[in-house]
Amino acid sequence: MPKINKICCIGAGYVGGPTMSVIADRCPNLIVNVVDVNKERIKSWNSINLENLPIYEPGLSSIIVRCRGKNLFFSTNLEANIASADIVFISVNTPTKKKGLGAGQASDLKWVEKCARQVAQFSRGHTIVVEKSTLPVKTAEVIKEILEASQLSIKGENKKSFDVLSNPEFLSEGTAIRDLEEPDRVLIGGENKEAILALTSIYEEWVPDHKILHTNIWSSELAKITANAFLAQRISSINSIAALCEATGANVGEVARAIGSDKRIGSKFLGSGPGFGGSCFKKDILNLVYLSSYFGLSEVANYWESVVKLNYWHQNRISKLIVKKLFGTISSKKICILGFAFKANTNDTRESSAIKICKDLLEEGAILCIHDPKVKKSQIEYDLGKKSINYTYKGVNDSDLDGNWSFSRSIYEAAVGADALVVLTEWEEYSTIDWKMISDKMRKPAWVFDSRSILVKEKIRGIGLNFWRIGDGENNSI
Ligand code: NAD
Ligand code: UGA
Repeated sequence: MPKINKICCIGAGYVGGPTMSVIADRCPNLIVNVVDVNKERIKSWNSINLENLPIYEPGLSSIIVRCRGKNLFFSTNLEANIASADIVFISVNTPTKKKGLGAGQASDLKWVEKCARQVAQFSRGHTIVVEKSTLPVKTAEVIKEILEASQLSIKGENKKSFDVLSNPEFLSEGTAIRDLEEPDRVLIGGENKEAILALTSIYEEWVPDHKILHTNIWSSELAKITANAFLAQRISSINSIAALCEATGANVGEVARAIGSDKRIGSKFLGSGPGFGGSCFKKDILNLVYLSSYFGLSEVANYWESVVKLNYWHQNRISKLIVKKLFGTISSKKICILGFAFKANTNDTRESSAIKICKDLLEEGAILCIHDPKVKKSQIEYDLGKKSINYTYKGVNDSDLDGNWSFSRSIYEAAVGADALVVLTEWEEYSTIDWKMISDKMRKPAWVFDSRSILVKEKIRGIGLNFWRIGDGENNSI
C-alpha cells in the first residue's frame, strides 16, 4: 500500500474546505493542501479575521485556528500542490448544464474534466485521483480516459500512473463538521485494492472500520445521487401531505410524528417547510432523471422528476397563499421576510426557496424587507437580480416602491409598517422574537406566515396577529 504523506484537494468550496479541514485536524502527520482558481476565495480562507472565512459552518473556525499554516494550507498554486500530492481529491462544482445536450438535467462536467487534465499535466509518479464531487455514474471512466491518454506519447521514467476512486461526500451544510467527524458512513468505490486501502488509511484515523464501506466504483457514484434523491423525495412527500392537511383540518406535525414513530419509516426528514433548497438536491435528482432517460428508462425518469415538480409547485403554493390572505393583492404592501439561506446555520442561498418566493412576491408588486443573520446583502442582490434600495415606508400609497426590496439586520426595524411577516429559514433567533414588540410595529390587520413551524401559535394569535403555519389544518386556508 502506497504511503500517503501529502494530499491536495482541488476546489475550496462548501465541500473541499470543511472536508480537508477535518482531515488535517484528524491526521496531523498529513500535509493537506487545498487549491482553487478563485483568488478571492483563497484569500478569504487565509484571512486572519475568522469572520471572513468564505463559508459559515459551526465548528469550522476553531479547526482553522488549530491547523492552518501547520498542516493545512490554502493556495492558488495548483501546479506545485498537485505535483507533490500522493492523493488528489477533485471537489469542484458540478452544476446542471445550462445549454447543449442534456441542458436543464445533466451535470456539467467541464470543471471536473479540467481538473483531470490539470492532474494529468502536473502530477508526478503515481497519483490516486479521488472523485469527491457528486458525479453521474461512469464519470470515473471519463477521468481515467483523460489521465491515460495524457501518457500515450510519454516514454520511460517520465511516465505517470493513476488510480481513480469514488469517495462521495454526504455532509450537510450547517452540520458539516459534525457530519465529517462522526459520519454515518464513508463510501469508497474503486477497483484497485491498494489504492482503496491507502484512502481508507486516512479515514481510519477517526472513523470506525465498520463505517467505511467499499463498493465497486459505479455503485459508489450511483449511491451518492440516490441518497440525495431519497432524502428530497421524503421532503416532497411530506410537503404534499402538508397541503392535504391544510385542506382537511389535519396537522402535518402530528401526521409526521405518527408515521415517524414507525421504525421502518423513521422520523428524520419529515419536516414540512417552504420546499427543499440547496445546491444539490434538485441538481442530483435531475441528473438521475437524465441518466434514466439516457438508458431508456422513461418511467424511472418521470418518477424522480415528479419530486422536483412537486417542490416547485409547493414553493409557488406558498407565494399564492400569501397573496390570497392579504386580500388578493400585495401591491405596495410591505412584507418582511425572515431568512434567506436555504436552511439555518449556513450562509448558502443556492436554490433557496426564499429566492423563488421573494421573486414571486416582488412580481406581485410587494415591497420586501429581507432579514437574514448570515447572508450578505450583495448575495441577495445577486440571487434576486435586483439591487436593494433604502427607503422609509410611508404606507400603501407608496407605489413608487412596488417590486423593490431593502435589507435589514434588525428584525424589529424590518417589521415597521409591514402587513405580513414570513419566516422562510428556521434560524434559532426567530423562535425567540418578542411578538408584542413586533405587533406594535406592524400595520393591522397583519399576518405572520410560518413556513418552518418554529413559532408558537398561541403567543402570536394571543396579541391580535393573524397566523398561518405550514400544514396546519386550523389555518382555514385555501
Ligand atoms: P463550490 O462551488 O462551493 O466549490 C467548488 C470550487 O471549485 C469553487 O471554489 C471553484 O472556484 C473551484 N474550481 C472549479 N474548477 C476548478 C479548477 N479547475 N481548479 C481549481 N478550482 C476549481 O461547490 P461545493 O458546494 O463545494 O460542491 C462541490 C461538489 O461537491 C459538487 O459536486 C457537489 O454536488 C458536491 N457536494 C456538495 C455538498 C454541499 O453541501 N455543498 C455536499 C456533498 C457533495
Ligand atoms: C443534503 C444532504 O442532506 C447531504 O447528505 C448531502 O451531502 C448534500 O445535500 C449534498 O450532496 O449537497 P444539504 O443540502 O446541505 O445536504 O441540506 P439538508 O439538510 O439535506 O437540507 C436540504 C433542504 O431540505 C433544505 O432546504 C432544508 O430546509 C430542507 N429540509 C430538510 C426540509 O424541508 N425538511 C426536512 O425535514 C429536512
